[in-house]
Amino acid sequence: MPHTLPTDLTCPRITTCAHGPGLSRIVAGMWRMTEWGMSVEQRVDFIENCIALGVTSFDHADIYGGYGVESLFGDALRLQPSMRDRIELISKCGIKLVSPQRPQHTIQHYDTSAAHITASVDESLRQLGTDRLDLLLIHRPDPLMDFDEVAHTFLGLRQAGKVLHFGVSNFSRHQFESLDKRIKLATNQVEFSPLHTAPMFDETFDGLQDLGVAPMIWSPLAGGRLFNGGEEHADNLRLVIKGIADDMGQPFASVVFAWIMQLPSQPVPLTGTGRIEAIKVAVAGTRFTLSRPDWFSILRAARGHEVA
Ligand SMILES: NC(=O)c1ccc[n+]([C@@H]2O[C@H](COP(=O)([O-])OP(=O)(O)OC[C@H]3O[C@@H](n4cnc5c(N)ncnc54)[C@H](OP(=O)(O)O)[C@@H]3O)[C@@H](O)[C@H]2O)c1
Repeated sequence: MPHTLPTDLTCPRITTCAHGPGLSRIVAGMWRMTEWGMSVEQRVDFIENCIALGVTSFDHADIYGGYGVESLFGDALRLQPSMRDRIELISKCGIKLVSPQRPQHTIQHYDTSAAHITASVDESLRQLGTDRLDLLLIHRPDPLMDFDEVAHTFLGLRQAGKVLHFGVSNFSRHQFESLDKRIKLATNQVEFSPLHTAPMFDETFDGLQDLGVAPMIWSPLAGGRLFNGGEEHADNLRLVIKGIADDMGQPFASVVFAWIMQLPSQPVPLTGTGRIEAIKVAVAGTRFTLSRPDWFSILRAARGHEVA
């Protein structure tokens, strides 16, 4: 069955938890923005087209594009300031890259100290040209992280009105729950795709479902490797997904997004593309679910074996 995207596509919304931020069900990831080669006017158009589609949440990190993406996005906001109140901005902190932008960094390392988190947020606000972040995530678990210090710092940022909600990224279940005990977290942003299924089996998703907190998902298409990667089982996996997509008359990637969003922890996938058509394909994945046999066919092809 050939597929055509519906003309009336609108992205639904989700609240990541009872106390969490309202986000679009599909979040636009900005990691690769420097690769898109867009002029500032094209960046404004891209953001406006996302908003028109209902994709209003944009995922950043201080380090994206070698500390360059936030200012590219900020330039678009400075050109079209009315966009700020129609979007949600997510950013991250806690990784220090060796970069010409940060000559004082002599080794790549993590820093979740109060001083670094606070300075990083101030810099993200400056680059993005905004007075607040809707959601701030600690980018990676830091072996030197003091949960009490991080919680206290988050509280201070909230009281200052600089950050409305807090979360983490790439945390284990125990790390998430340790910090969540001290200050309520809105999400754990983790890698997940048919080529990376670990969070389904290492308690990450179960723990979040239990707490009623939706995970965010990075690299849902395995960074593009779902289309062309040479991993074990990848060829068969592609054939299985394509077979289901063709039978349902849906695009290949829509089936992958639907497969992810069908999990009961309500994962919120991030796109990685600068093409509005590819974002529409992700949004189309919010409109249908897979039968259990089809869902498990993808799981079986992903792992190379049946469930027991
Ligand atoms: N928290 C973390 O540690 C972490 C880590 C990595 C990423 N992230 C976040 O997650 C976001 C998404 O990650 P990602 O960029 O890896 O997502 P992804 O969707 O898995 O991969 C995006 C890549 O897939 C390609 N692609 C999409 N559709 C395609 C198609 N039909 N055929 C061939 N290639 C296709 C895109 O190319 P085109 O541009 O040509 O469409 C792009 O290069 C990032 O932007 C970032 O915000 C977070």
